[in-house]
Amino acid sequence: MNYDAIQAAAGVIRNLSGRPEHRVASVLGSGLSSYANQLPGAIAIPYSEIPGFPVPKVAGHAGTAYSVELSGVPILILAGRAHFYEGHSLEQVVFAVRAAIAAGAGSVLLTNASGGCGDGRAAGDLVLLRDHLNLTGHNPLFGPNEDRLGTRFPDMSAAYDPGLRAIAHQTASEVDVDLEEGVYAWFTGPTYETPAEVQMAKRLGADLVGMSTVPETIAARHMGARVIAISLVTNLAAGISPVPLSHADVQETADAARERFTRLIDALLPRLA
Ligand code: HPA
Repeated sequence: MNYDAIQAAAGVIRNLSGRPEHRVASVLGSGLSSYANQLPGAIAIPYSEIPGFPVPKVAGHAGTAYSVELSGVPILILAGRAHFYEGHSLEQVVFAVRAAIAAGAGSVLLTNASGGCGDGRAAGDLVLLRDHLNLTGHNPLFGPNEDRLGTRFPDMSAAYDPGLRAIAHQTASEVDVDLEEGVYAWFTGPTYETPAEVQMAKRLGADLVGMSTVPETIAARHMGARVIAISLVTNLAAGISPVPLSHADVQETADAARERFTRLIDALLPRLA
């Protein structure tokens, strides 16, 4: 956990955006990155220009930070994330979120694509995370603690901020978007889960399975930022889906949900400040 590298990246974000502070940060997950293409007046900063930012390699994961003002609130959109399954360390996986928080973001909206395993879940659902299950045995805080970033033993009783969740529900109803709540189980990937793993996650209390977000939530909570996360169910999880899973189908569902997702995120982001 390199404190100086995180501060240096935050400094570059400030310099290249010309904004001394971003109050909200958001990570756009699989198939959702194109949200950033339609932001009026956004300043694009390729990850390759920010020291320490890992450049994502998965199709559908761009690698650009966008600095934008929505309703007067300066917001940093991270279009594309690095995943553990790409071979990045968890320290690298959470680096961009840590830098965004160091650049001023007190609230973080994480988004992802997931498989639905809870009863009643369907492809295309938008689900607000109520909590998560870390089933991987990994944690981005393994190793010596950096006390300047946060405490050794962060409390996770309300990892997904209840106040921000209430704002999200209110916003969703105002813009006429259905938003459920659910528990997300983190698997490392890159394989999709087996049907038995999906049944296990479901019995343990999961509604969604996916390959991201949890390490970022942990790192953000470590730094004291408030976290909210929205998952797009791109498919029913393995064994629940009658057909084999494919990344192309995940992308296709994400494309189909773009308009609804955009409507919700546009209204929600400035309210998270
Ligand atoms: N499992 C894990 N990650 C995913 C899935 C899934 O079914 N769909 C989209 N991301």
